[in-house]
Amino acid sequence: MKSLAIFPGSFDPITNGHLDIIARGLSVFRGVRIAILVNPDKRPLFTVEERVDIIRLTYRGNPRVQVDTFSGLLVDYAERVGASVIVRGLRAISDFEYEFQMALMNRRLNPRIETVFMMPAESYSYLSSRLVKEVFQLGGSVRDLVPPVVERRLREKYGPVPAQPVGRRRSRR
Ligand code: PNS
Repeated sequence: MKSLAIFPGSFDPITNGHLDIIARGLSVFRGVRIAILVNPDKRPLFTVEERVDIIRLTYRGNPRVQVDTFSGLLVDYAERVGASVIVRGLRAISDFEYEFQMALMNRRLNPRIETVFMMPAESYSYLSSRLVKEVFQLGGSVRDLVPPVVERRLREKYGPVPAQPVGRRRSRR
């Protein structure tokens, strides 16, 4: 339990799949530092500040989970904060190629930082931030897929989504 692990990503927004990986990380590592990439090329739904705030609220009272932002190379950030492990979730084979490339590139950039892959519970194997946003926007329920604070913030962004009969759901945008 000596190592500090970094869990990097976009977290736009954080989902219960991410929470599952963080819980698994905490069973192996001294702490998990969630590192949100600041990427000016992307147009996220939630600003970096909003994402930090959501994660802080989600892990309020748990000193083993920290949240931070970074830009530039992930391995440089890891070195700077004294983390020796990068944790990434692997949901399905489709994640593998991209993750494998990133892990090997990161190893080439800094062989002292190890990437560890963790599998979420099967019930989250189809879950992604992109799908959460799409389902919510189209009037579907995201309960049990995201922490309650995310559901509240989605409602604040898009307004309340009225329950509609299946087959009569309208796009809200
Ligand atoms: O949640 P995401 O969007 O799949 O996370 C991707 C992330 C943030 C882990 C990745 O884009 C990243 O590490 N970016 C930092 C830039 C970097 O270090 N690039 C070289 C390593 S491949």
